Amino acid sequence: MSTQQGPGARSRRDRGVFRTKSVEQSIEDTEEPEHALKKSLSALDLTVFGVGVVIGTGIFVLTGKIAKEQAGPAVALSFVVAGVVCALAALCYAEFASTVPVAGSAYTFSYASLGEFPAWIIGWDLVLELALGCAVVAVGWSGYVRSLLDSAGWHLPAALSGTQGGMFGFDLLACILVLVLTAILVLGMKLSSRVTSVIVGIKVTVVLLVVIAGSFFISGQNYRPFLPPTRPHAGESGYAAPLSQLLFGFTPSHFGVMGIFAAAAVVFFAFIGFDIVATAAEETRHPQRDVPRGILGSLAICTFLYVAVSIVVTGMQKYTELSTDAPLADAFKSVGHPFYAGIISFGAAVGLTSVCMILLLGQSRVFFAMSRDGLLPQFFSRVHPTFGTPYRSTVLLGAVVAVVAGFTSINELAELVNIGTLFAFVVVALGVILLRRSRPDLPRSFRTPLVPLVPALSVLASLWLMLNLPAETWLRFAAWMVIGIVVYAMYGRAHSRLGRRIAAEGKTAGGGAGRG
Ligand code: ALA
Repeated sequence: MSTQQGPGARSRRDRGVFRTKSVEQSIEDTEEPEHALKKSLSALDLTVFGVGVVIGTGIFVLTGKIAKEQAGPAVALSFVVAGVVCALAALCYAEFASTVPVAGSAYTFSYASLGEFPAWIIGWDLVLELALGCAVVAVGWSGYVRSLLDSAGWHLPAALSGTQGGMFGFDLLACILVLVLTAILVLGMKLSSRVTSVIVGIKVTVVLLVVIAGSFFISGQNYRPFLPPTRPHAGESGYAAPLSQLLFGFTPSHFGVMGIFAAAAVVFFAFIGFDIVATAAEETRHPQRDVPRGILGSLAICTFLYVAVSIVVTGMQKYTELSTDAPLADAFKSVGHPFYAGIISFGAAVGLTSVCMILLLGQSRVFFAMSRDGLLPQFFSRVHPTFGTPYRSTVLLGAVVAVVAGFTSINELAELVNIGTLFAFVVVALGVILLRRSRPDLPRSFRTPLVPLVPALSVLASLWLMLNLPAETWLRFAAWMVIGIVVYAMYGRAHSRLGRRIAAEGKTAGGGAGRG
């Protein structure tokens, strides 16, 4: 692999904490034997991964809540709006993944386009999407499984059922789930992707069952009105209000045309995950071709399924009567088919496990990439000699997430997952524009159309959804970022492999004049 720098690359490298790591160097690092991940995935594996992580609590739970409280049957249009925001981001992710096919997703890409410090910030931010997302979904999964067990007559003691109603409890099921998934991830990508395929098969079958079987129970009556009239919503008060409301004094409305857009900010959660396909780029046999296919393919499939499910479910039951906990299953109960409801609950419980697994997989790859670059201790970037997986980072993160999922009541932190993801979308879109300018010479097997228009629209759309999140979520986000800056200042800056390389080159070039 050549390490020659293209135009502009050299001049951008030596800028202190904004030093950039060349794309060639990133790719070269992946070829060092002790840090090399096994390349075993195809476009189909990646699409299955994408669907495996995307379809989860969003469609199984949020559809009912949002139709009932914010959008009515027009929730299908909210899914279309959120899908469009994600499609804009996906077009940017596809370009960078085809240009920098290295583990670490947005982190690695930012290192090549924006510089070390922004890359660190993104890596730190992705913990919110990936590790926190995994813990949040694990806790949700354990709630689902407990209710299935309860209906089978098996009751877990309250002390092992998680924190409920202010009473402290250890969430045994969530903790065990994360530990089992960690073991599967250590044993190899091929095993992880086989497990995912089985789970995705079950999950997609259940979703198709809802669409096909449910369509026989649609009553046109339930769609009237499709777009319920706008109802002013007093909104939340204080820090629980959306930032847009605090900043612009704007009062969100429920239902009506604006309700569709407000609901889109919430159902965005249902799409989180398609970007994680990019974290597996390094383990893909033909990443330049297959990663864009995996990202765009899984997003297209999920958008289609979400729109179909929401049209069917709101047609089966009046939106005002939809359940907010298990809307898909309960819609079948409402038309007198509890058997289907049982299958759907089972499918949802199985389906959520792959969401957790792939979020954890993404987190371990980002952590691995940061440690390989020296921004985190390099101890964690060793690859297992037999399994070819980053086992040290996987075990560490699996243990931390298991403890967090077991001991904390983190449901209220779920919105941090949204803000973390949207922030990464913004940075990636900016990175596409910058890298086109600084490295026009790089081979890009997938090119985002209409640059800079599409990335600019992606930035605006993501920012707009971020503004719809509560002010307290912004405060928590800011606090997390401040901690990240302190960690970088105290550790990453001094241990950066790139920083050391630049310093060494400076010395060799004469007199230690390196500016990095
Ligand atoms: N998109 C994933 C879900 O809906 C995170 O659970």
